[in-house]
Amino acid sequence: MPDMRMLVTGGAGFIGSNFVHQTVRERPDVHITVLDALTYAGDERSLDPVDGQVVFAKGDIADPDIVDALVREVDLVVHFAAESHNDNSLHDPWPFLRTNVIGTYQILEAVRRYGVRLHHISTDEVYGDLELDDPAKFTPETPYNPSSPYSSTKASSDLLVRAWARSFGVQATISNCSNNYGPYQHVEKFIPRQVTNVIDGVRPKLYGTGENVRDWIHVEDHNSAVWTIIDKGRIGETYLIGADGEVDNKTVVETILEVMGQPKDAYDLVSDRPGHDLRYAIDSTKLREELGWTPRYRDFRSGLAATIDWYSANESWWRPRKEATEAKYTQLGR
Ligand code: NAD
Ligand code: TYD
Repeated sequence: MPDMRMLVTGGAGFIGSNFVHQTVRERPDVHITVLDALTYAGDERSLDPVDGQVVFAKGDIADPDIVDALVREVDLVVHFAAESHNDNSLHDPWPFLRTNVIGTYQILEAVRRYGVRLHHISTDEVYGDLELDDPAKFTPETPYNPSSPYSSTKASSDLLVRAWARSFGVQATISNCSNNYGPYQHVEKFIPRQVTNVIDGVRPKLYGTGENVRDWIHVEDHNSAVWTIIDKGRIGETYLIGADGEVDNKTVVETILEVMGQPKDAYDLVSDRPGHDLRYAIDSTKLREELGWTPRYRDFRSGLAATIDWYSANESWWRPRKEATEAKYTQLGR
């Protein structure tokens, strides 16, 4: 087999940078170019572990010229780049429209032009939310019902990919994954925010009553599933990625406090996120049975403890973004 040339969009973000690390470690036959705009969420230092082993291009996926020039040189695009934070989308939806919808359109037009395979990374949030006591989980047949500007623009991007696959024969697969945790996640997100708050002697902040449930998966398991789909997935198909990790937010905060040697109740309840989705849960049977994927991190508490260790040991990575992030939350009253 000849070597594979791969373009990773959003490779300086949380999941994309972990994907690049893992690929460099495990797939020496893959040549990686990262395309990333280095928005507030991107950090070139997240690629330090693979310095000299990948090509980095700073650019915007909504810019057709840079997308064209990079896509024409590769065999496969793995498309992570997105505006990814719900709270920001409620404050200013436009960057979400621009990157998630128009950016994905530009990627699609380029892969269509050059016959390049695409794997599109998406979220379970496109399905809306579930009741706390509903035995159901999301499946690939669940109707789309997104709640926020973030999830509705991700849903839009998925629908564009499906349409380009059907109408133009674009060789695409899609994955919708649940909430990720692990190293290199921005301190605006739930787990890193609370861990770094505790390091700073600040009490964690739980939205509403803390009863909302997320289905946590370690980022390395998400990325091993993405590789399984690249290797064995059927073109045109959608796969749901999840590791049966449902935990309510209050339990997550209590576990962080406990692991970090603090009293379990040393957190504050703050005002709720408008339109806050209650529960997400993934049924990943199709991925497991058709493609034989299984997650490696089965114990959330130990995965979380390893993540806490990473944030404790890598303060120089997150510190520069902490103050501005908390200032934004203070403005929102959260
Ligand atoms: P992130 O915000 O950490 O990273 C996004 C990256 O994309 C950043 O490096 C940013 O600079 C880059 N980017 C943003 N706009 C760009 C543009 N216009 N052009 C080029 N680069 C741009 O996000 P993440 O958590 O790593 O999420 C990656 C993908 O995974 C997203 O598509 C997201 O919807 C999806 N996803 C995330 C989760 C999660 O729990 N974080 C779960 C399921 C799916
Ligand atoms: P988040 O990491 O923003 O991911 P998502 O909105 O994609 O699920 O939030 C995860 C959950 O944690 C969500 O229910 C909102 C809640 N949350 C808090 O309770 N406190 C916080 O400070 C943050 C950032 C989130």
